[in-house]
Amino acid sequence: MKYHLITFGCQMNKADSGRIATVLENSGYKPASVIDEADLIVVNMCSVRQSAVDRVYGKIKYFTKLKTKNPKLKTVLTGCILKKDKRKLAEKFDFILNINDLAKWPAILKIGPSFQKDNYLKIKLKYQPPLSAFVPIMRGCNNFCSYCVVPYTRGREVSRPVEEIICEVKNLVKCGVKEIWLLGQNVNSYNAIPFPRLLKRINDIEGNFWVRFTSSHPKDFSDSLIDIMKEGEKITEYLNLPVQSGDDEILKKMNRPYTIAQYKNLVKKIRKKIPDIALSTDIIVGFPGETKKQFENTVNLFKEIKFDMAYIAKYSPRPGTAAAKLKDNVPQKEKDRREKVLTEILKKTALENNKKYIGKTVEILMMNADTGKTRTNKTVKVESKKNLLGRFVKVKIISALPWGLKGKYEK
Ligand code: 5AD
Ligand code: SF4
Repeated sequence: MKYHLITFGCQMNKADSGRIATVLENSGYKPASVIDEADLIVVNMCSVRQSAVDRVYGKIKYFTKLKTKNPKLKTVLTGCILKKDKRKLAEKFDFILNINDLAKWPAILKIGPSFQKDNYLKIKLKYQPPLSAFVPIMRGCNNFCSYCVVPYTRGREVSRPVEEIICEVKNLVKCGVKEIWLLGQNVNSYNAIPFPRLLKRINDIEGNFWVRFTSSHPKDFSDSLIDIMKEGEKITEYLNLPVQSGDDEILKKMNRPYTIAQYKNLVKKIRKKIPDIALSTDIIVGFPGETKKQFENTVNLFKEIKFDMAYIAKYSPRPGTAAAKLKDNVPQKEKDRREKVLTEILKKTALENNKKYIGKTVEILMMNADTGKTRTNKTVKVESKKNLLGRFVKVKIISALPWGLKGKYEK
């Protein structure tokens, strides 16, 4: 019996897919090399934006065809699913399952016994990617940003026990993983112990590896977190700090409890202690009622902060959220324009930041034969005749592009 897993969305969904694969393989399933060979298709979906939902619809058209070829084929839908989408998609799938019930899936799907796990994150991973691995430290979110479905689809925050996380990281490091991404919708509200202390514990694990974490809500980014980022030699100089808008009024409407002055102050503090930090952000353009003037505030913020990377999203109303009650009144064309404007600024600021690397020798982790990543999460194309895959190596940066660097292997 073979399975095929289709994953949409964020790193958390990708991490969940690793656990789904483990459960299926424990039940005797093997991965199908092509979707046509599968007896079981699992779609791990994302309802965060309408565009992701549309992609799911695009995929399932093909399932009907596959079902006529293989009548035994079963299809499962899971992930971040909004109630409204659930109702609509119910007839397209044989099963709609909750990721939190993953331990019970084998019994529900009649492919094996379920096992006792009160929290699906307790399921031990069988497989890891060789170099980079995601470790969820919590699930859910309590913040209820007015545009966002996550508190509804993933529920309230639940932190994983410290020892469980430490154990998973130790195992991954033992298996050769060199880059650990700690995941949570808002890692700062990890509450089994304060998040900076968790970072310290992970930093103290023996081995040669890097630690990154995402995502961080600016509202509770503490000084001790900045300190541990500075002191922890394994904690890399990369930070995703979603600002979502450059305008105070829009932030209020988004239920993001900080002002732009506070955000800028925070960035200033972080940069003072960690001068070479690379900053990325998330932005939504065209939030209901966002005027051109308010958007200009985001433009100004972009020009001032000079982000290294930004995930720019065009607002789409999500059923059930507070913002869905507001009129989605920024025309699509205007949202497209705003996105382009920000992308152009980002291209310039990222290039400007990247140019500072030229002539410097930096340590990178080789993610494949000719591409590595800096501690600051920048991609480096490397000229080298040696196979350096999986190694930390020193390269001299010879040129810079907006989305990456080029370097020469030094030894
Ligand atoms: N419309 C557009 N973008 C959204 N995001 C979350 N909800 C929406 C929405 N309704 C973006 C936010 C968040 C990222 C994961 O997705 O910027 O940080
Ligand atoms: Fe969504 Fe806000 Fe929670 Fe992030 S912090 S997952 S944007 S509700």
